[in-house]
Amino acid sequence: MIQTLEWTDKGVRFIDQTKLPTEEVYVTCKTHQQVADVIRNMVVRGAPAIGVAAGMGIALGVNNSKAETTGDLKRDFDAICDLISKTRPTAVNLFWAIRRMQEKFDRIRIRPIPQIKRDLIEEAQRMHAEDIAANQAMGRHGATLMPSDGGVLTHCNAGALATAGYGTALGVIRAAVEQGKKIHVYADETRPFLQGSRLTAWELMKDGIPTTVISDNMAGAMMKQGKIGAIVVGADRIAANGDVANKIGTYTVAILAKEHGIPFYVAAPISTVDMACPDGAGIPIEQRDGKEVTHIAGKQMVPDGVAVENPAFDVTPAKYVAAIITERGVARAPYDESLRRLAGQEAEVQK
Ligand code: MRU
Repeated sequence: MIQTLEWTDKGVRFIDQTKLPTEEVYVTCKTHQQVADVIRNMVVRGAPAIGVAAGMGIALGVNNSKAETTGDLKRDFDAICDLISKTRPTAVNLFWAIRRMQEKFDRIRIRPIPQIKRDLIEEAQRMHAEDIAANQAMGRHGATLMPSDGGVLTHCNAGALATAGYGTALGVIRAAVEQGKKIHVYADETRPFLQGSRLTAWELMKDGIPTTVISDNMAGAMMKQGKIGAIVVGADRIAANGDVANKIGTYTVAILAKEHGIPFYVAAPISTVDMACPDGAGIPIEQRDGKEVTHIAGKQMVPDGVAVENPAFDVTPAKYVAAIITERGVARAPYDESLRRLAGQEAEVQK
């Protein structure tokens, strides 16, 4: 399995996703500031991977702390969490992971400092293992929704690289292929950061899953030609009513799917569901550097001085979503009821 990120004796090790697919290189972060930088610069990206990276970054920072009293350690802990919380705003998994580490700290703060450090490292490693298990469960729940023989379109990268391993949307595809379904993946290129062509295509090729890369503006034509039997994407944050924030361009794909009568599925862990956010209007959308739009591989593609926009995510209204596949089962409309039930720990599969 692709090792997106892992805890090692030397620090937190990441595959550098900005270098893929042409170079497979790894970076090891020795400080939490370095972990914050790799999240911000998208060396690691994808909502669940960002969450696990945040957990490991916090554990790393606390482990490096020179504090000799629990009060001082708590001050360091809060500063570390604060820095990591300011890296990327949209993926709620980041804030979920920080909250989980905070709750853990509060539970163990009476222990000796070396024990607190060990326990936080263990908690971060547990998040890593749980994420892989959640993706495999999502795969089992979602595989039945995939066509037994046909094209499946995906947008961005919601694969092993976007998680601790196996993937959410690509986990569903992987599980369907493992069950013997003959799936051909259409990977949207995903301008401007090219997560589809660089990352999704790279990991599916590694697994030998048939894949065709298309530029984003080809998706409608592929649907019209009958090449797409289903769509499955990941999510960065799902509001309580089922509105889904995901990579910019997802909304366009969902509308196209509706027009062509193709089911549009979202696969995401419960940690991506933000029950405190009533609908998509409340989801903060990250605005990234315009240079990601104006330049491709360092080459300028637009005239000097032209205005550009670069929202990293958009929101797909729940009415376009055929189902939300989670590790606890498949949620269908009305999402305010089905998501509340699943988020409330009831591990039931909805038919
Ligand atoms: O900007 P990115 O690359 O972090 O955006 C990633 C996505 O939008 C993914 O689809 C989403 O995080 C789900 S990953 C399992």
